[in-house]
Amino acid sequence: MLAGKRILLIIGGGIAAFKIPALIRLLRQQGAAVTPVMTAASEQFVTPLTVAAVAGEKAYTALFDLTDEAEMGHIQLSRVADLVLVAPATADLMAKMAQGLAGDLASTLLLATDTPVMIAPAMNVRMWLHPATQRNLALLKGDGVQIVGPDEGDMACGEYGPGRMAEPEELAAACAAALTDGPLKGRRVLVTSGPTHEPIDPVRYIANRSSGAQGTAIARALVGLGAEVVFVTGPADVLPPEGVTLVRVETARQMRDAVQAALPVDAGVFAAAVADWRVATESSSKIKKGAGGLPVLEFTENPDILAEVSQMSDGRPALVVGFAAETDDVVNHATAKRARKGCDWILANDVSPETGIMGGSENAVVLISEDGAEVWPRMGKDDVAQRLAARIAETLGAG
Ligand code: CTP
Repeated sequence: MLAGKRILLIIGGGIAAFKIPALIRLLRQQGAAVTPVMTAASEQFVTPLTVAAVAGEKAYTALFDLTDEAEMGHIQLSRVADLVLVAPATADLMAKMAQGLAGDLASTLLLATDTPVMIAPAMNVRMWLHPATQRNLALLKGDGVQIVGPDEGDMACGEYGPGRMAEPEELAAACAAALTDGPLKGRRVLVTSGPTHEPIDPVRYIANRSSGAQGTAIARALVGLGAEVVFVTGPADVLPPEGVTLVRVETARQMRDAVQAALPVDAGVFAAAVADWRVATESSSKIKKGAGGLPVLEFTENPDILAEVSQMSDGRPALVVGFAAETDDVVNHATAKRARKGCDWILANDVSPETGIMGGSENAVVLISEDGAEVWPRMGKDDVAQRLAARIAETLGAG
């Protein structure tokens, strides 16, 4: 996803700097080259040696280093990258950026650069909510700086709230989206994928045969068109795609929570094979055979994630795409399902065992929309994904 791209990574002095080596690894796995620049304060949290070793490049640390200037001047350094990422972006660094200060290498590069800048704020919740920081944030947004996070949660300082740096996966996905050109650039799309596992007791669960292949292919195709993709997946057989914000879940309820947390999005593609039911009372200890005879499992219904999102009165995605796995009378069942759930499109497929679709590499789908049923020829799941992604781009572009 990031092959051939260079990211100038400015590392600020916050505790979240401990996540930076993991971020550098993710960026490099996607093919990016990373040039690290460290503020003096960041060296208190992560060493230049660690950063340089993971980046496979020199970590620049001071402004007035004559050797550095001879090798590469600071102006030149500010221009080498396709993207400048500041992570963690401390309150101090944000203030310097907003005011245009240039007292050290990091802030000088930020003032001198002509490439897009993305920041990942990280600080104590009070510092984040302070009017001064919020004022600086507004200035930076006005300057065209892209902001990723901060997340809400428990913080290293013991407090709770917004201020935690976005996770490395989310930052890497944001970089991929920022550096990929395509019709979905600037669009945020949610994809659910894979099966869910519904526990019976601590060792047993109910599952289904979904491999996650189709959802993964769709996410990959959307990233390829420049979308920022949040990928919520159950325990799938296939590896998750690169360049997405990855959220792993097991149960339908966890998937629902992850989907709600990912909103708002421009489009949602619900490719997951969510278990319709779960065991009403999960046993906290392993159910033993013997005395009581055969166990009887009582079921209760899982939340219908697709229907919930389709029927949102506030903040509904502009386009909601569901799937219908049917074994007979595909078009009629899927058309009824589209109406019942309230989604815009349904991609219906025949999952009868003889089709070999469930768990296989091909798919034969019918796209049901308000215009009726459009039969797609049988093709590889990657081709279905490309075609769907292109159709989504066309529709969002027209909207
Ligand atoms: N879906 C969902 N949440 C559920 C069940 C299904 O979000 N609890 C979504 C799936 O991701 C898919 C669509 O709904 O996009 C259709 O799922 P499917 O299992 O084919 O339909 P059901 O709703 O289960 O209907 P039926 O069992 O009658 O076929």
